[in-house]
Amino acid sequence: MKTLKIGFFQFKPEHRQPEKNLEFISKHSEIIKQSDIIILPELATTGYVFSTKEELLPLADEIPEGKQSKFFLELAKNTNTLIITGLAEKEKGRLFNSQAAFYPDGKVVKYQKLHLFFKEKKLFDLSHNEPVVIDYKGVKIGLMICFDWAFPEHARLLMLKGAQILAHSANLVLPGLGQAGMRIRSIENRVFSVTANRLGQEYDTRFTGRSQIIDPRGNTIFMAGENETTIKIAEIDPDLALDKNITPLNNIIQDSIDGLKFLSKYVNKLNKNF
Ligand code: ACM
Repeated sequence: MKTLKIGFFQFKPEHRQPEKNLEFISKHSEIIKQSDIIILPELATTGYVFSTKEELLPLADEIPEGKQSKFFLELAKNTNTLIITGLAEKEKGRLFNSQAAFYPDGKVVKYQKLHLFFKEKKLFDLSHNEPVVIDYKGVKIGLMICFDWAFPEHARLLMLKGAQILAHSANLVLPGLGQAGMRIRSIENRVFSVTANRLGQEYDTRFTGRSQIIDPRGNTIFMAGENETTIKIAEIDPDLALDKNITPLNNIIQDSIDGLKFLSKYVNKLNKNF
């Protein structure tokens, strides 16, 4: 059995204070070091509530050459840990709600959020990239940001691309829904999921904490409190996610293909009604 240590870092990013947030994160490097992979919340360096793109752009980072990216690369190297974090990203004058994986050896892979939530639609550009699966220590990890949880086809695509773990950086606001949704994404895809949510409040937006680590059967390995600043690390066997049988006679991929053969003719019919 080849195990992997994976964890989440739940905290309250200081609004509009990237420097302070990086300093806060760096104070936890001794704990981060104990894990192979650590996942941080969505927009972990800037906070969440901005009313205009112009307000957020000066705080956003260029990935991988920006100051914040350089910080995370240094942290990954010094702790020998893969750091996956949410970042506001500026790219050729455009603004993305992004997530980046910083490897100890200097590699960086990014994902730009596909499903923008509520007023994010007024702020961020929409990604047109395909869902991203990364490889670390022979394990495949699917990248997800917050509201992506509500779209089962997103997690399904990541699983079909080989993801054994869903790394979910979040700023969840609808009490309990994202956490429940990710548990279902784990069950229906037979994968681990790690949701790194934030806590606290910005203006009238309250974040729900309760970051979690879920196994491929939907069992909760860890769930943080709503207002707890914490890092939780679990030792998992990622290969458990290679078993796609719910019963000896129910393989979720094969049964899904069989079902789709029948359902696909109705999908076209429904599409015409929209
Ligand atoms: C969210 O997608 N930040 C709710």
